[in-house]
Amino acid sequence: MNDRSLRKLYIETVGCQMNMLDSEMVVASLRRKGYELTDSTSDADTILFNTCSVREQAENKTYSALGRLRDEKKNHPQKIIGVMGCMAQKDQELIFKKAPFVDIVVGPGQLQQIPDLIEKARNEGGRHKALSLGRTDGALRDIKRSHETFDPLRDPTMRPTPFQAFLRIQIGCDKFCTYCIVPMTRGPEQGRDPLLIFDEAKILADQGCKEITLLGQTVNSYKHVAPDGKQTRLADLLYQLHGIDGLERIKFVTNYPKDMNYELLSAVRDLDKVSPYLHVPLQSGSNSVLQRMKRGYTVADYRAMMSRIEETLGDAAAVSSDFIVGFCGETEEEFEETVNLVEECRFKNSFIFKYSERPGTKAANHLPDDVPFDVKRRRNNELLDVQNRISEEDNHRFLGQTLPVLVEGKSKRFDKQSDEPVDTNGPIQLTGRTHDDRIVVFDGNTRLIGEIISIGVYEVSGLTLLGTVVTGSVTGDVVMLGT
Ligand code: SAH
Ligand code: SF4
Ligand code: F3S
Repeated sequence: MNDRSLRKLYIETVGCQMNMLDSEMVVASLRRKGYELTDSTSDADTILFNTCSVREQAENKTYSALGRLRDEKKNHPQKIIGVMGCMAQKDQELIFKKAPFVDIVVGPGQLQQIPDLIEKARNEGGRHKALSLGRTDGALRDIKRSHETFDPLRDPTMRPTPFQAFLRIQIGCDKFCTYCIVPMTRGPEQGRDPLLIFDEAKILADQGCKEITLLGQTVNSYKHVAPDGKQTRLADLLYQLHGIDGLERIKFVTNYPKDMNYELLSAVRDLDKVSPYLHVPLQSGSNSVLQRMKRGYTVADYRAMMSRIEETLGDAAAVSSDFIVGFCGETEEEFEETVNLVEECRFKNSFIFKYSERPGTKAANHLPDDVPFDVKRRRNNELLDVQNRISEEDNHRFLGQTLPVLVEGKSKRFDKQSDEPVDTNGPIQLTGRTHDDRIVVFDGNTRLIGEIISIGVYEVSGLTLLGTVVTGSVTGDVVMLGT
């Protein structure tokens, strides 16, 4: 082990926030073993891919990236190549078949074994895998245990920013939407113990974290029952976390429409640290499609939820959504119903996906993937155009307003131009977010990163608010800073 300081890790992460968090944990555990990060595969002696199976395209990208390592592994057989995450759990042995030079395959429930598996592969050679039990592979208790994660291992240097963090409150999913692979890759729904969640949030706050985003596939269905019978729901958790000094913003994603109840919405209204931002995927605006998706609600249910949000939070809340277009059997009329509902709900933004058949799901087994790709693409573009127009129209109400913004970092545009000589003391283009998750771009000094500051908005587009840094109180006179 005297070559410890030479260990270099390259890690590539795709997929949702769960995966970003998992990568953070894996990197933290390997750092403790003496690894440092590198951004080049040729420089690395360990290469990990944290993978996603939600759409075929995500998997294809990973297999292509793996294919590009074939020669690298041939020339440097000592290099350890690992595949972790949802595609590891879903494809298992198939990964070794498609990419025989892969050394380890590790499911999302076994990530704590990665340091040992890497050592084993390096010392003993051979292929190694660690995976969770399938949904029918034993007693529920054993299946659940095989999906446990190792969350409390937090390392601020591993996060994209030290002042923001994800915190998992729920593992897995039991909703079984017919198109979705997640219940198979992430296992049964389990609410983590609120005491563990609270302790982890405190550690994060002590590390200087101002914003935490609570994660769960259906985060607002969160439920934990203690051995003494005491039940904790998301609203209770929000009250508990609100008391932690140092935390300034608490977000939670992703929500399930039917569980968006008054108790939770009142907590969002009454707790000023809780962001008035609700990501509640609708998926389709057609009852027949929703039924084929087995989403468990109707358009009327979703409308009722929007009314509850409106009643409790007024226009203070920003609601966003996900959609799948071209799901099995989706007719033009059914698609138009989705367009109409997007017009009606006026989401802050929507993520729109073309249906991708996932082997092993109910839809793949029972419903034909019969909408042609170019129809899916057209519907995707059409819905996106409608959403973008709405986002831009609705953003106009922020013109001239001054909003508190958490400064996240340099804007992408600036990052792209970073070859140019820069006066590091001068203002550069920064990006941040409002409490309700709107992206704001403005010029300012890098020392503002991590601060919540006031920004006066002077221009808007569908995706961003453009502004300038202002001093004084949020309602006071506008004074330009440091330009
Ligand atoms: N748990 C979250 C979603 C997780 S997956 C929820 O229930 O909302 C993120 C998004 O990917 C989903 O909201 C859905 O819009 C999309 N998605 C999931 N499976 C898909 C598939 N087979 N094809 C295309 N999009 C899919
Ligand atoms: Fe997938 Fe549905 Fe569970 Fe979301 S709620 S993770 S879409 S099965
Ligand atoms: Fe993908 Fe797994 Fe997340 S399938 S979306 S990485 S839970």
